[in-house]
Amino acid sequence: MSDNKYDLVVIGSGPGGYVASIVASQKGMKVATIEKRERLGGTCLNVGCIPSKAMLHASEQYESTIKSNGMMEWGINCKDVSLDLSKLLKRKSNIVEDLTKGIGFLFGKNKISKFTGTARIISSKEIEINNNGKIEIINTDKVIIATGSEASVLPNIKIDEESIVTSTGALELKKVPKKLIVIGGGVIGLEMGTIWRRLGAEVEIIEFLPRILPGMDNEIAEKFMKILQKQGIKFKLNHSVETTKKVKNKVILTVKNVENGNSEELDADVVLVAVGRKPNTNGLGLDKLNLEMDKYGFINTNDKFETSISDIYAIGDVIKGPMLAHKAEEDGVAAVEFINGEVGHVDYNLVPGIIYTSPEVAVIGQTEENLKDQGLEYNKGVFPMSANSRAKAIGHTDGMVKILSDKSTDKILGAHMIGHEAGTVIHELSVAMGFGASSEDVARICHGHPTVNEAIKEAALATYSKAIHS
Ligand code: NAI
Repeated sequence: MSDNKYDLVVIGSGPGGYVASIVASQKGMKVATIEKRERLGGTCLNVGCIPSKAMLHASEQYESTIKSNGMMEWGINCKDVSLDLSKLLKRKSNIVEDLTKGIGFLFGKNKISKFTGTARIISSKEIEINNNGKIEIINTDKVIIATGSEASVLPNIKIDEESIVTSTGALELKKVPKKLIVIGGGVIGLEMGTIWRRLGAEVEIIEFLPRILPGMDNEIAEKFMKILQKQGIKFKLNHSVETTKKVKNKVILTVKNVENGNSEELDADVVLVAVGRKPNTNGLGLDKLNLEMDKYGFINTNDKFETSISDIYAIGDVIKGPMLAHKAEEDGVAAVEFINGEVGHVDYNLVPGIIYTSPEVAVIGQTEENLKDQGLEYNKGVFPMSANSRAKAIGHTDGMVKILSDKSTDKILGAHMIGHEAGTVIHELSVAMGFGASSEDVARICHGHPTVNEAIKEAALATYSKAIHS
C-alpha cells in the first residue's frame, strides 16, 4: 500500500470521528483522520462538553462557598472568598488542552495519521486536504464523515462572540456580565445560564415556546424550571427576540410576545444565542457529489450508516438522532463494525440525555407525552428526592425520579430524573432498559444505603406497587 493510500479516512476528530478512528485502527485498518482545528477533540472537547463542565464545576464550588445557605449552614465559615475569573478560565483551558493531548497520545499509540486542514471529498476514493492554501490529496477505500454541528444563528442578530455570543463565546467572557440574556431555553441556555448566574450575573432566558426543553418529558421540564427559578434564573416563555442593537456597552433587544404580538425592549451586557445546532457540512463538496441530504441539511444514511454514495459513511451530529457526543461515539463504533464486515447497532431510544446543572437532569427512553401519542397504556412511579436519605444528608433534596413502564408487561419504557448526580445515577436504568428489565426487576435488586440510587428503587417500586419511604 502506498504511503498516502488508506483503508479509511475519517473527516472530523470529535467524539464520533476520533472514536471511529481508534476502533478502526484497533481492527487493523490503516486510518487517516482529517481535522481543521489544530487540536483534536472537536466541539465537545474544545468548546463544548468539557469546558462547560469544568465551568459548571468551578461555578458550583464558588456559589456553595459564598452562599449563606451553602457552606455556612454546615458550620464551615469561609472568609474573603472571591472570584478570579481569568484563573478559572485558564484552568478550564488547561483541562481542555490535557484532554485533547490525550487523544493525540491515543492516535500515536494506534498509529493513526492526523492531517490538519479542511477536507473536500473529490470522490469516495480521493480526499483533498486544504491547510491554509497548501493542498494535499490522499486516497482511501472508505470515508466516514464526522464533521459534527455548528450553532444555529438567528436572522437580524449578528454574533461577535464578545457581547452577542454563541456557546463558544460564552465560555470565554472576560468579565462576569451584570445582565446576561439567553435566547433559547434548551440545554445550552440552561447550562451556560447557570454558570454565569452562579458567578454573579443576573440571567434571563427568553424562550419562543410555552415551555423550556422541548422534547423532554413535560412534568420534568416544568419541575426543573421551577427549581431554576428558585435559584434565581428568570424566564420569559412565549417570547421571541426580533432584533438586537449595540448601544455603547449594552445590547438592546426587541422582544415580542408571540401570544399577543406586543413588543418590549430589554437590555443586557451580553446576549447568548442558544437556539439549537445545525449539521456542519461546509466545504465538504457534497453538492457536487449529489450526496443525499434532508431539508434540514442532515446527511441521509441507512441503518448501516451508509450515505447515498457507496463507501461514504456518516455519523454523529451530521445525521439523524440526538446531537450528543455519546451518541456520535456509538455511531462511530457501529459504522466501523459495518465497514469491517461485522454488525453494529445503536439504539437511539437508549441514548441518555443529561443536563449538568445542580441538580442534574437525566432522561432516557420515552416521555409520558410520547406514550400518550402512541396510545400505549403505562404505569407511572414517582419518588421525590426530598424522601431520599442520602439526598437529605448532603442537602440536595430538589428533584424526583419518574419511571414509566408498560401496563401489561411492566417493561420499563422511560426514566426521568432530577437530582444530585442524576447523570451518573441514571445509568443504572440505562443498563436495566438495555436488558429489557421490568420495574419489578429493578426494585428487587438490593441497593446500597444510603445512596441516591435508592430513589430509583423506590420509583421502580411505585411503578408496579407502592414506594416504602413516601
Ligand atoms: P436546543 O435545541 O436544546 O434548544 C434550543 C431552544 O431554543 C429550544 O427550546 C427552542 O424552542 C428555542 N428557540 C429556538 N428559536 C428561538 C427563538 N428565535 N427565540 C427564542 N427561543 C428559541 O438547542 P441548544 O440548547 O442550542 O443545544 C444544541 C444542541 O447541543 C442540543 O442538541 C443539545 O442536546 C446539545 N447539547 C447537549 C449538552 C448536554 O448533553 N449536556 C450540552 C449542550 C448542548
